[in-house]
Amino acid sequence: MSNSFLHIYVCLLILITGCSGTRIHQYDAIYSGTPWLDNNGNTVSARGACIVKEGNRYYLFGELKSDEGNDFVGFSCYSSKDLYNWKFEKIALPQQKNGKLGPGRVGERPKVMKCPKTGEFIMYMHVDSTNYKDQYVGYAVSNTIDGEYTFKGALLFEGKPIKKWDLSTYQDTDGSGYVLTHSGNVYKLSDDYKSATKHLLDEPDTMHGEAPAIIKKNGVYFWLTSGLTSWERNDNFYYTATSLAGPWKDQGYFAPEGTLTHNSQTTFVLPIYGSNDTTYLFMGDRWSYPIQHSAATYVWQPLEVNSATLHLPYYEKWNVDLKTGKWANTEITGKTVLANDATIKYSGNWKQETENNINVFRSNTKGDSFSLNFTGSRVVLYGVSQSDGGYAIVTVKDAEGNVVANSTIEMYSKVTNHSPKYVSPMFKKGIYTLELTVLGKHGNWTNKRKDTFGSTDNYISLEKIIVTE
Ligand code: GAL
Repeated sequence: MSNSFLHIYVCLLILITGCSGTRIHQYDAIYSGTPWLDNNGNTVSARGACIVKEGNRYYLFGELKSDEGNDFVGFSCYSSKDLYNWKFEKIALPQQKNGKLGPGRVGERPKVMKCPKTGEFIMYMHVDSTNYKDQYVGYAVSNTIDGEYTFKGALLFEGKPIKKWDLSTYQDTDGSGYVLTHSGNVYKLSDDYKSATKHLLDEPDTMHGEAPAIIKKNGVYFWLTSGLTSWERNDNFYYTATSLAGPWKDQGYFAPEGTLTHNSQTTFVLPIYGSNDTTYLFMGDRWSYPIQHSAATYVWQPLEVNSATLHLPYYEKWNVDLKTGKWANTEITGKTVLANDATIKYSGNWKQETENNINVFRSNTKGDSFSLNFTGSRVVLYGVSQSDGGYAIVTVKDAEGNVVANSTIEMYSKVTNHSPKYVSPMFKKGIYTLELTVLGKHGNWTNKRKDTFGSTDNYISLEKIIVTE
């Protein structure tokens, strides 16, 4: 972690935990596209993530991003008992002093598996240079799931590094471990999971895509993958097969076409096996370059897996019963305050406009703000993402003016999207103030081929606010 980044992280922690007795770490469901705060009040930063269950806890590993570029600062580890509330465990693999995961390098998509033979936990990752020209599959090892992992360098196949980028892992029902990469590659791992013994599938001509993930149901393997548009979202698609070695059949998109996979890119699917049912938790990233630490979000949805087809729905709020394995869509309820309600105090150049017959208030001016005083336990802000969307800071203060929650949000999307953009944690019922300030910045970036992507302006659009009693 760079010094300035560590400084900001610690200051935020002190700011939030130090100035209020309100315990802010509490969520009652899975929400997508909104920042999540951990037990310390900091953003859960685990991009390109995976989840491993060990004992009665779920461990989330991902890229700990910074808001200042794309250099590797470490892989984070969080744990949870309910998949809604996340405790920061540690930086599982920090930036190394030097070498391939040292300063000025890229580390992405960490995936962890427990090796059945040795009982060790092995983390695989994409290692690269910042211009993405020195890629290989690396690995790191720990004796405990939440320990500090030791970086071992390249995973070897026939004595050589595997020079591929976007990767994932799959552990089959017989305990065999596999590493899969972009463009249809599957490598079988040795018994100790520390080398690759076989290049089981090599299909760069017939299978394309990045961000791979595999699940199996009733003998059918499903391979989810994305198009190649860097941090931009696209309509992700999938293949099916009855053997990991193929042949893999192209099955098209798994989310409704044009939604750009509900504005996300696949990273992992976690099967949650219960007494009655299995929920397949789809985990996607809504990247937000360059504010990837604070403003990127998660799109986690219950993937419907049928005999040979997939369907990814979208729910603003949903719950999963970890005992039975059943999921349910739940409503965000409370008192609705529309954008043109007189209780919202606007400051600056906000303009009332209509989007899809809905009144919204929009501003792209740095420092413009609005606030709402409310009595309740939670506040949800709905906004409209558009191709000209930008960033804003959202703050909740208690009656004494102490900051009890603080996040950066983004309203950029290539396709217009009305949805919650901010869901506060549950507070002790009381009097609070919600404040939003337009940052006057937007995300944009170039990909590996130097094509440009991202927003065209800094707009923030408010549709409504829902206050829960
Ligand atoms: C994506 C890839 C991400 C990251 C990004 C950088 O295509 O899936 O993991 O590498 O490109 O532009």
